[in-house]
Amino acid sequence: MRSLLFVPADSARKLEKALTSGADAAIVDLEDAVAQDQKAAARKSAAAFLKEMASVKSRPRLFVRVNGLASGLTDADLDAVMPSKPDAVVLPKAEGGASIIHLDAKLTAREAMFGLQDGSTGIFAFAIESAKAMFLAGSYAGASRRLIGLTWGSEDLTFEFGAESSRGADGSFLDPYRLARTLCLTASAAARVPAIDTVFADFRNAEGLRREAEDAARLGFAGKMAIHPAQIPIINEVFTPTEKQLAWARAVAAAFAAAPDKGAVTVDGVMYDRPHLLHAEQLLARGKV
Ligand code: COA
Ligand code: MG
Repeated sequence: MRSLLFVPADSARKLEKALTSGADAAIVDLEDAVAQDQKAAARKSAAAFLKEMASVKSRPRLFVRVNGLASGLTDADLDAVMPSKPDAVVLPKAEGGASIIHLDAKLTAREAMFGLQDGSTGIFAFAIESAKAMFLAGSYAGASRRLIGLTWGSEDLTFEFGAESSRGADGSFLDPYRLARTLCLTASAAARVPAIDTVFADFRNAEGLRREAEDAARLGFAGKMAIHPAQIPIINEVFTPTEKQLAWARAVAAAFAAAPDKGAVTVDGVMYDRPHLLHAEQLLARGKV
């Protein structure tokens, strides 16, 4: 999961375009990209789109972002879209593992009601989108077997902090937002799920996006969310392991496979032990996308 493209659920044209964007996942949005008086129409359009796509084999994974648990809209969102079997539900404004457990229970009930396999719907969560959530970062670990990844968002934090901007003059995130981003990475590592970096809203600025994506990849993020199709090729390129990285990973994995009773191996005169094998396996998994 390198690239996740947001698509407002009430835009039939954009839903169509998302399918050929090259994104690994499309996030059909019922939350912030949909105006309050369009919520009901957006639910209908999301459900129809997902239903049409459910049996299509070659398509991005299809996620739905519902409105947050405090909005009072989550249940109606789930009732509308769950019969169409989304691959995962995206939870915004999560506040720790308790929110995940809460959504898990709602999904379990709908899966039973709508004849879906128990546990078949994933949860992808905005783990760090509020000050409170920053203090609960450790509680996502073990919250639900449905958890497939965590991300973070800066807009709500900016508002909550009363800040003028989340970014400095050079366009990079300021300290409080870098902390939120780091906590997202830490929460994901503790929960053993991929960390996905937040959106880069300035969608005509390809160079800025590339810089931020490369920074995220260096830190350990597995991918980045997008708001415009033009961002997808850049994100896919940055988060796809290079041939050199894959060759290294294959060599390390092969050396361990050839010596199953050894805790450390040598490749090209360099010693590698267990953490290196785990890193190699991670790279090989990412190489498969
Ligand atoms: N998903 C799919 N297709 C998209 C898209 C998206 N997120 N954003 C733009 N497109 C399509 C447009 O429909 C257009 O196709 P068309 O010319 O065939 O109709 C093409 O890509 C070029 O779009 P462009 O004209 O450059 O942008 P726009 O002015 O139509 O849209 C935004 C700009 C920001 C409104 C739009 O990108 C968008 O809605 N993004 C998602 C916002 C969102 O979901 N936010 C919530 C999460 S932070
Ligand atoms: Mg938001």
